[in-house]
Amino acid sequence: MQYLKVERDEEVVQITINRQDKLNAMNLGVMDEFISIFDNLEKDSSKVIIITGDGPKAFSAGADIEYMSNIGPTEAEKYALRGHEVLNKIEKLEKPVIAAVNGYALGGGCELALACDIRFASHNAQLGQPEVTLGICPGWGGTQRLLRIVGPARAKDLIFSGRKITAEEAFSMGLINRIFSSDSLLSETRTYAKILSKNSNFAIGISKMLVNRGMDTNLDTGLKLEIYSWAVCFSTKDREERMRKFVEKK
Ligand code: COA
Repeated sequence: MQYLKVERDEEVVQITINRQDKLNAMNLGVMDEFISIFDNLEKDSSKVIIITGDGPKAFSAGADIEYMSNIGPTEAEKYALRGHEVLNKIEKLEKPVIAAVNGYALGGGCELALACDIRFASHNAQLGQPEVTLGICPGWGGTQRLLRIVGPARAKDLIFSGRKITAEEAFSMGLINRIFSSDSLLSETRTYAKILSKNSNFAIGISKMLVNRGMDTNLDTGLKLEIYSWAVCFSTKDREERMRKFVEKK
């Protein structure tokens, strides 16, 4: 891999965007490597994924502006489709994906974090959707996922102004789950990931699907889906063993 570094610690996989000189901006090479890694993660024995950026300054400064400055609508559509392919894979993966936002998360960088399930940030993180300052709208799901996470008024404020917000402001609007010092962000994220990895990955995967589906369906349909998913959990050996252990302890 040229642009992404993959490290495994038992069942926790950490993916680091490794383009520090360009503040981890995501060119097509980055996106291609994400696709191939996530294709493997769908099948392998990993349980929790962490995504972060290399260096102390940026999670990712977004889509590659140098590349975009020279393309027309046809290539732009391909680039957007590739972006959506990556972010949809993250969202649909039946395993938790945590963004450790260690600095700038702008444009596509913010959209990458939005597609993750949990977002932890360092105190120096700055998030935003500055696309309109470049004459484009967000193109990797920003208008849709930001809307669903922070609501339409806040999404429009961020998208129309293109302003960068601090980790604290992002936390106050529910965009960031927790804030840590720059020094402890990764170790705290790994500790949290380990806790998730000890829980039932089947049950977490099905819960992720239910919450994601629930955002785009009516309450009655979401609740029905929950009932059947809950019943399916009773077909696993894992559930049988976890409950038996609890009962035997008593
Ligand atoms: N695409 C391509 N290259 C980028 C980039 C991006 N999105 N963001 C930063 N870079 C590059 C810079 O061109 C520079 O490269 P160089 O050293 O070869 O000139 C390098 O990363 C460092 O960035 P620089 O702008 O010098 O750092 P800074 O500390 O002065 O500013 C930012 C940091 C994040 C405020 C600034 O880089 C920025 O605004 N980036 C664009 C963010 C953005 O609009 N993203 C949305 C894209 S749709």
